[in-house]
Amino acid sequence: MSLAGKTAVVTGGASGIGLATARRLAREGAKVAVWDINEAGAQAAAAELTQAGYSAIGSRVDVSKRTDVDAAVAMAHAKLGPIGILVNNAGITNFCSFMDMTEETWDRVMTVNLKSMLTCTQAVLPDMLAASWGRVINVSSSSAQSGSARMTAYAASKGGVIGFTKALAQELAAKGITVNNVPPGFVDTPMLRSADLPGGVEQIAAASPMKRAGRPEDMAAAIAFLASEDAAYITGHTLSVNGGRYSS
Ligand SMILES: NC(=O)c1ccc[n+]([C@@H]2O[C@H](COP(=O)([O-])OP(=O)(O)OC[C@H]3O[C@@H](n4cnc5c(N)ncnc54)[C@H](O)[C@@H]3O)[C@@H](O)[C@H]2O)c1
Repeated sequence: MSLAGKTAVVTGGASGIGLATARRLAREGAKVAVWDINEAGAQAAAAELTQAGYSAIGSRVDVSKRTDVDAAVAMAHAKLGPIGILVNNAGITNFCSFMDMTEETWDRVMTVNLKSMLTCTQAVLPDMLAASWGRVINVSSSSAQSGSARMTAYAASKGGVIGFTKALAQELAAKGITVNNVPPGFVDTPMLRSADLPGGVEQIAAASPMKRAGRPEDMAAAIAFLASEDAAYITGHTLSVNGGRYSS
């Protein structure tokens, strides 16, 4: 698998799955723009990659804000070339009983997890359409597949990501652009470590079929495959990477 000559954007690339994906895509030869609302984290990720000999830049981007996204696309395009790969990974979670859910929380989860599909994908598509080649990989969640108590807003937003993936895949299929999604199971990242889950990561791992939580690198491998030429005939697909937690 080689991504030499491609430019990739990874949203939420300062941490967890996004950071592992940025590292993996760089190792496969892609130039990588790391976007994150955590500016220091985005810069640190890009610095790590450039020190390792790869081409990378880091930008502070709130993926739900079109002005942030458009400015970051212009910078990535100018410094790294036309964007061919977009990994829509940035996300936030929320745990509360449904009756305690506020409109503010609901709107924030939807804005970051779902509206970002609109802002980021629309912004990079002109490059992909011009090249008649592109890969859009959206990070959804197994909680949208299985359901998950106290995660209604999150599961609804990630279910939206899966529907968005299927619809856009059909719209772009004849244009050389594939659109797929990866729903992780439980992955050992700062998000999972801070989650309000009984027993924490260790109990989740013990209860899982493989007796371990996912690693960010497990997700990055699937994302890199979907970004590659080997996955050219796969679109609209949900590639579950969850150690057997959920199968459909
Ligand atoms: N860890 C898991 O178990 C798990 C399971 C299912 C799905 N996911 C999904 O995987 C993705 C990555 O999660 P993770 O576990 O690596 O979490 P993480 O918290 O380690 O990383 C998420 C990154 O997104 C960034 N971010 C948050 N809001 C942003 C915004 N508005 N604009 C730009 N960046 C923003 C954060 O600063 C952070 O660096 C998320 O979409 C998450 O919902 C994670």
